[in-house]
Amino acid sequence: MTAIIVVGAQWGDEGKGKATDILGERVDYVVKPNGGNNAGHTVVVGGEKYELKLLPAGVLSENATPVIGNGCVVNLEALFEEIDALEARGANASRLKVSANAQLVAPYHQVIDRVTERFLGKRAIGTTGRGIGPTYADKVSRIGIRAQDVLDESILRQKVEAALNQKNQMLVKMYNRKAVDPEEVVQYFLSYAERLEPMLIDSELVLNRALDEGKSVLMEGGQATMLDVDHGTYPFVTSSNPTTGGACVGSGIGPTRITSSLGIVKAYTTRVGAGPFPTELFDSWGEFLQKTGGEVGVNTGRTRRCGWYDSVIARYASRVNGFTDLFVTKLDVLTGIGEIPICVAYDVDGVRHDEMPMTQTDVHHAVPVYETMPAWDEDITGCRTFDELPQKAQDYLNRLEELSGCRISYVGVGPGRDQTVVINDVLAG
Ligand code: GDP
Ligand code: IMO
Ligand code: MG
Repeated sequence: MTAIIVVGAQWGDEGKGKATDILGERVDYVVKPNGGNNAGHTVVVGGEKYELKLLPAGVLSENATPVIGNGCVVNLEALFEEIDALEARGANASRLKVSANAQLVAPYHQVIDRVTERFLGKRAIGTTGRGIGPTYADKVSRIGIRAQDVLDESILRQKVEAALNQKNQMLVKMYNRKAVDPEEVVQYFLSYAERLEPMLIDSELVLNRALDEGKSVLMEGGQATMLDVDHGTYPFVTSSNPTTGGACVGSGIGPTRITSSLGIVKAYTTRVGAGPFPTELFDSWGEFLQKTGGEVGVNTGRTRRCGWYDSVIARYASRVNGFTDLFVTKLDVLTGIGEIPICVAYDVDGVRHDEMPMTQTDVHHAVPVYETMPAWDEDITGCRTFDELPQKAQDYLNRLEELSGCRISYVGVGPGRDQTVVINDVLAG
């Protein structure tokens, strides 16, 4: 039995898709436990680039069964568009399953996402506009629509009417928008029912049975620790729990069954959307990381904000996730830059903080305290073992490991599936 969690340690886009892809070939199930089509996970196989949004990257694995877990929010139109686009490229998405308990994104959720952002004005989160927050809000308010509801038209109609009773008041009276016709929403969902029905499963039962039979399950988190609604830079976060605890809840696999939890962390830091980012660079180094790292958001095409590695965040993420291993990606981007700054602590109004400050105000005031390490000049994209890496790259990784509170087991040296240094194999034994 193997149950591995893959989650982001920073603000997303760390390379979770690539990490899943490498391990996905050797597992039986790849489950997406949280999020929806706000994610963008890139996998490069044999020079072909795939960008997965709602689907787990495990859909590209030959053997794994991909599952959209109970903790996800599913836009059915986006789901089928993504499946069709993948299949048009020759990929096989026919094994994909969807948890009967997953929540559905309705067209009104996307409208509300956009109007609430507008009303926030300067305080806007910079969401992906996919209706993610409003769908999770309805789930918690107990007026959400679940995937299983498309199987029962009369229940579906009751639920849509109940949700819109309140929302139409809000849309018309507060936001000056048109009321939504419940019947149009019901018909929208029903138009996908026939195609969705054979994909629906009791995912919590299926996954636990698989583990009982000695099979392996990988949970591929969307978003990341610093975007977690509990542990991230609230309110500049997403509306789910993209941490290891959330992966257990979002797949129905209990914490005692988890065998490894792998934190994915870039060798530097990026962020899309608004919110504090202590090591953000506004000079030519920021531009360098953005250009050399190809830091453009997969989902919305927005340029990613870039900064140096922040070990305060890495330690924090290791702690709140209980990581057993780290996967450091994009080390190749730092080749030949002379010196590499690493943030080791924050200076908050003259006081040194070695750990994440307790209050949001302090996080907004955090100024990074840097130490520097020399960079290597050799091309590392062909390295496959730790010993093959130049001494200075090894020293940089050893220092990151000391500062980050968790052992480094994988290092990315390029976007390709094979461009990975494996130090400890989480699937071994
Ligand atoms: P995710 O959302 O965490 O799956 O990450 P994204 O796919 O949004 O962004 C990561 C980007 O980095 C993608 O373009 C990957 O192809 C690329 N990538 C992943 N690992 C490496 C690596 O080790 N080196 C380089 N140069 N690129 C990488
Ligand atoms: P992956 O899985 C990076 C960010 C948005 C915004 C905030 C809230 O590819 O790492 P939302 O639409 O979720 O309500 O937006 O979260 N965000 C991401 N940033 N990578 C992601 O996913 C993200 N998913 C959401 O930019 O700041
Ligand atoms: Mg991404």
